Amino acid sequence: MPREATEATTITVRGIEVPKLGLGTWQLTGEDCVEGVRDALDLGYRHIDTAAAYANEEEVGRGIADSGVDRDQIFVVTKVSPRDAAPDDVRRSYERSLRKLGLDHLDLLLLHWPSERVPLADTLGAMGEALQRGATRAIGVSNFPGDLLREALDRGPILCDQVEYHPYQPQPEVLELARERDVLVTAYSPFAQGRALDDPIVREVADDVGRTPSQIVLRWLLDQPQVCTIPKASSRERREENLAVFDFDLSEEHRGRIAGRAERP
Ligand SMILES: NC(=O)c1ccc[n+]([C@@H]2O[C@H](COP(=O)([O-])OP(=O)(O)OC[C@H]3O[C@@H](n4cnc5c(N)ncnc54)[C@H](OP(=O)(O)O)[C@@H]3O)[C@@H](O)[C@H]2O)c1
Repeated sequence: MPREATEATTITVRGIEVPKLGLGTWQLTGEDCVEGVRDALDLGYRHIDTAAAYANEEEVGRGIADSGVDRDQIFVVTKVSPRDAAPDDVRRSYERSLRKLGLDHLDLLLLHWPSERVPLADTLGAMGEALQRGATRAIGVSNFPGDLLREALDRGPILCDQVEYHPYQPQPEVLELARERDVLVTAYSPFAQGRALDDPIVREVADDVGRTPSQIVLRWLLDQPQVCTIPKASSRERREENLAVFDFDLSEEHRGRIAGRAERP
């Protein structure tokens, strides 16, 4: 990996610049969430991931406001739940999210999961209106496998598919399509919710490179085209550790060993 690629903290997809390392906020609630978001922004995070379903948008918004960081420096993502996939509910959902977050626009509005009830075209139509009205700078999907992502791309200007992606969960179809069609893949649960940090191979690579297991997993993800990631961490120390991944390289051999974990979870 050329050094300038390692040092790049943003990725540009469909003309939109996205900070490659964001803060995940699922299960961050109350004052811990306000403080976590404020602190992450203080450390230098510029990408915050929330969702209507996380019931913490107000706290995320307060953290953003308290941080003093300019709104236009932060990439804010929220999600519409599939139970709100009908067009009128989509509208109500993103308007409620904006109100709770205290923002006049989002950077990315995602459909959290595919809906079994509402045709995708209808949901994406209402999300497209949000885009036209300036309520969000981009729209996308989450938890869409390759075939559904292809369908979504045929129906709207999809910037992103946010999917579970870590050393135990490969996403070959989504990644291939993302490269073909210039789509951002946001890797959620990058540590397999902590499991990957105890992995013996990840630990061996960490010892080899002289970095921590979390940094190894994040560097492995960020070395891949079209990929950004949103680890969640509850303490300042861990948030700081997770952000310190733009100044070291993995070898081809290290990357191969980590990718190989997907075959033996
Ligand atoms: N679109 C979706 O359907 C979807 C689904 C799941 C998640 N997400 C998003 O992805 C984000 C991240 O995923 P996740 O929360 O499921 O799991 P994750 O980021 O893979 O792992 C979080 C776990 O790792 C621990 N951790 C973090 N940094 C660490 C470090 N440096 N050293 C040791 N342990 C560390 C955390 O502990 P502490 O918290 O105790 O520090 C927490 O237990 C979520 O917050 C959410 O924003 C999206």
